[in-house]
Amino acid sequence: PINDLAVTPQMGWNNWNAFACSVNEHLLLSTAEKLAAVGLRDIGYQYIVLDDCWSLGRDEMGNLRYDPAKFPHGMKYVADQLHSMGFLFGMYSDAGSYTCARYAGSLGYEEQDAKTFASWDVDYLKYDNCFNEGLSGSPKITAERFRAMKHALKSTGRSILYAMCNWGEDYPWKWAHTIANSWRMSGDIYDSFDRPDPHCPCTGEEGYDCSYAGSHCSVMNILNKAAYVVHTSMPGAWNDLDMLEVGNGGMDYEEYKTHFSMWAALKSPLLMGNDVNTIDAKAISILSNPAVIAINQDPAGMPVNRMWRYYVNDTDVYGQGEIQMWSGALSGGDQVVILLNAGNSARMMNATLEEIFRHETGIAPEIKEDWDIYDLWANRMDEATAQTILDGTGVAPAGVYYNVTELSFKDGLAA
Ligand code: GLA
Repeated sequence: PINDLAVTPQMGWNNWNAFACSVNEHLLLSTAEKLAAVGLRDIGYQYIVLDDCWSLGRDEMGNLRYDPAKFPHGMKYVADQLHSMGFLFGMYSDAGSYTCARYAGSLGYEEQDAKTFASWDVDYLKYDNCFNEGLSGSPKITAERFRAMKHALKSTGRSILYAMCNWGEDYPWKWAHTIANSWRMSGDIYDSFDRPDPHCPCTGEEGYDCSYAGSHCSVMNILNKAAYVVHTSMPGAWNDLDMLEVGNGGMDYEEYKTHFSMWAALKSPLLMGNDVNTIDAKAISILSNPAVIAINQDPAGMPVNRMWRYYVNDTDVYGQGEIQMWSGALSGGDQVVILLNAGNSARMMNATLEEIFRHETGIAPEIKEDWDIYDLWANRMDEATAQTILDGTGVAPAGVYYNVTELSFKDGLAA
């Protein structure tokens, strides 16, 4: 790892999925207030990350300028406000000549821009991959571009989490551990559970070697690719499955629960991509499930592995309708097991201890026969409570909102 940050996957909020380029000071600060009020800050969602479209070119010294119409008090003010509310502040730039939405990029300006971000007291940088002047196509070339910003951030002396966003291009899971705290492993997510889209042709059927920078990737699309790469994650260096869509309306309740559970168990960064003004109680109750968050933040940092997948019939392509079993170790000798039914009807599923603990070396670990089993979706804040918190009439339940890394897995939260 490049620094002592993201020892567990970073958690927070990013405006892109719900707001795209409609960014301004009010959006960030009012979102932060709401996240604190509904208890999401205190359960771990710490970073408020501003995405693309915030800038207005460079000044005569070549320094990046924020757009004063969107950020009338400047970026340092936003950072100060967020810090005083107990949040950390993330910003966005691009390892190319332009950002994806065609604002100024940082290629060739790495040192200068890192200094600018540090002077604004930024705590996190999302660094994108658009308009890279052809400097991609091999791990060596791409790594060099992203390494330049790593060095630049380091030399500011400020502690800044570095989140690389190169969409899985050039196999970052093979080399980015010494470059960034996280890297995107797929094309952009969209708010769909399993609808195939030609813009995301990399389905995961291609296996480990699939490298494609697309968009409109469904949850199942991303999962079926992640299955081949996610084991390369480790504390301080995570595969990023992209921002959460929970609460945006394109999936039903069970699908959002599945999306959230899988991102958590695969140890993806958990960046909410919702609009806190329209979010409903169901979404809040999903995003604030302390047991599922504790799986994500488990200090061992070991992603679950897919132990099997099964096509129920031959129309089950691209993750539609298939069933899968995932399993992984937690610290303290516990184990998380996921039975994933991607179909639209109830199914009986079972997994033997053999399957749950199978290891690719073929060497079976010692399997204890006696397990206590906990359903992590059974014991949590219910929707009615979430609604009272949203309404401002209730308060977040005591004892739920604290440092989730200290939750004990022996206390009824996880098996
Ligand atoms: C790319 C990234 C997205 C978002 C947009 C902004 O598509 O992958 O997450 O940052 O750019 O333009």
